[in-house]
Amino acid sequence: MFDRLQQRLFQYVLTHALGMYKDQPDVHDHDTQQEQRVAPKERAAHLVTQMTLEEKISYISGYDDLAVRGIDRLKIPTVYASDATSGVRCFDAATAYPAPVAMAASWDRELIREVGDAIGEEARAQGVSILLGPGVNIARVPTCGRNFEYLGEDPYLAGEMASSYIQGVQGRGVITTVKHFACNNSDYDRHKSDSVVDERTLHEIYLPAFKKAVLQGGSLGVMSAYNQINGTYASEHAYLLQEVLRGAWGFDGFVMSDWNSLYSTDGPVKNGLDLEMPGPKWLSSKRIHQALQQKRIAEADLDRMVFDLLYAFIRTGIFDRPAIDAQAQTRSKRHQHTVSRCADEAVVVLKNDNRLLPLNRYALERVAVIGPHGLLPNTGGGGSSYMLQRRRIHGIYDALRLNAVETEVVYIESISGLIDDQDIPYLAQADAVVIAAGFDRVTESEGYDRSYRLPHAQERLIEQAAAVNSRCIVVLHGGGDMECSSWVDTVGALLHVMYLGEQAGDAVARVIYGDVCPSGRLPFSMVRKYSDIEAARWYVRHPEHMNIMRVIGPQGNPKIRKVTPMPYNEQLMVGYRHLDTHGIEPLFPFGFGLSYTTFVISDGAVTGAGRHAEITFKVRNTGDTAGSEVIQLYVHDQEASVFRPEQELKGFVKVHLEPGEEIGSKITIDEDAFSYYDTVSHSWVVEPGIFELRLGTSSRDIIYTGTFTIE
Ligand code: BGC
Repeated sequence: MFDRLQQRLFQYVLTHALGMYKDQPDVHDHDTQQEQRVAPKERAAHLVTQMTLEEKISYISGYDDLAVRGIDRLKIPTVYASDATSGVRCFDAATAYPAPVAMAASWDRELIREVGDAIGEEARAQGVSILLGPGVNIARVPTCGRNFEYLGEDPYLAGEMASSYIQGVQGRGVITTVKHFACNNSDYDRHKSDSVVDERTLHEIYLPAFKKAVLQGGSLGVMSAYNQINGTYASEHAYLLQEVLRGAWGFDGFVMSDWNSLYSTDGPVKNGLDLEMPGPKWLSSKRIHQALQQKRIAEADLDRMVFDLLYAFIRTGIFDRPAIDAQAQTRSKRHQHTVSRCADEAVVVLKNDNRLLPLNRYALERVAVIGPHGLLPNTGGGGSSYMLQRRRIHGIYDALRLNAVETEVVYIESISGLIDDQDIPYLAQADAVVIAAGFDRVTESEGYDRSYRLPHAQERLIEQAAAVNSRCIVVLHGGGDMECSSWVDTVGALLHVMYLGEQAGDAVARVIYGDVCPSGRLPFSMVRKYSDIEAARWYVRHPEHMNIMRVIGPQGNPKIRKVTPMPYNEQLMVGYRHLDTHGIEPLFPFGFGLSYTTFVISDGAVTGAGRHAEITFKVRNTGDTAGSEVIQLYVHDQEASVFRPEQELKGFVKVHLEPGEEIGSKITIDEDAFSYYDTVSHSWVVEPGIFELRLGTSSRDIIYTGTFTIE
């Protein structure tokens, strides 16, 4: 149904544009300025009419791995793409920003917009016009190998962060492709897994971040996922691509496939995909010609695909400027400042017994650093987002040592988690032991899922250090939750730093020495035991035991493809939604993070009318250090005709305060904050009734509750 409507609309634009051009000389007779004056839609439609069938076919699949091939005859330039969210990959000069999950941990919209702007500028400096991110798949299980590339477990937070990032990047004239649409919530056998998810869960948990990225962020590109959703591959999913994305959300950009994620010819062409990456396989000239001859597809389908691409490129100005912006800078002072701030704001302090942190570098004599990630900087998870570091950057040991004053900082080797007997006395006498632990680009990567537990050698290392020194500070790397319950009580302090890009060591040192007052907050929950994760019940038992042949083996051959269903039977019970609904105590709650100062939130009040509410409050910094607090708003529906999670994040604000300073702040919400997805009307519904508006500093630290009534 929608398909036909869309075709008709397209015909309209095409005819309209042709009519417009009828009385005009050929576009080539115009000078460039005149061309630019033609509205992008008409210009794109006109170009489509100028293209031969063969040119159209060449335009709908990638070229040279990361590009859309230009057509010289029509003065259409080649358009280059690059990965992605942590920086402009494959360009040594580019800045390596923290992993997206670390960006989300900043809970700072303005900062992330600034990061997007900086990455956009660096992309322009390298001639990159399409950035292959951001990724917004929800952290359904902590073991997903790509959670570090995504924005945490909550759709609202992920959507807000993604749209800020997109506005920053696209503000520089670089197109973002929000990915991986949709339900790519695990990298376990990603070509052969089927996310089986009900309609309500899809709309309430897995689609909102995409929706916001498109509607609020304005992303002109979307990248489809590898997996199937309810039995159909994402790259040919009529419901997702046509009905939801282009229909309900009104998306008028282009949809590209993930790399080698087409599994047929007709499906993608008929159902809304525009570009097969990285090159022609299912959309090869031979296959397209065959499909045309057999009337399985029509040339009008190809016109639509080509048009979507051209329209986005023209709108962005890509055809009217040099590929490389000579004014755009790479690694400017401003970028350096932004990457440091982003890393500083991402660090989450989870535990700090007896104010072990910050360490006083003027008073301490000895600090020992141990662990596999102490020496070399652990900058990011593995796969297509990984930014190679050719310049010298600091690991944790170097950064602590170089920024020490009176303190001797020593790195102590361990082999397979065993500390040499002769080093034990030094460890025992150290004023603090920093244990650099967690995952890295090999143990946590695109292409497979990881284990929930830390590698065994690391658990052994923590055990040995904690046995001789109570002032152990564990610094965790990784894309999300991991098993900590078995050892967390034995250590004095715990930091989750995710991956901090080129600031991997420096930002950690700044927090440990107190140059930075920590303000990162968890964008995911950390549980006491794996079985507290409801989704894990429906997920593979040993995610790390993936047969490598299935990862690298043939992807698209239907004859040898055996697809495994991944039932999302937990439905809405993802992350804190499950823990809070069922009263399960987390180890560290969603939204949680400690500071070196203290804040008091007071004077909460709710006002508003209709479906718009405003919650006002005051925040005071009652400590003696400047710092930032994240005030979060959770909405609880007191009575509903359908099952609803206990509470859901619907607003937040991050405020920075000097010691003693107090400010008034507010969070405004509208009907999105109250509604649920109704599977009868297939739309979002607000039910009248009383809603609790809970203000807090994590999903478990609620400080003020007000009510708001919807008539
Ligand atoms: C990844 C994408 C990435 C692409 C290009 C794929 O393997 O799934 O996220 O953008 O490669 O590098």
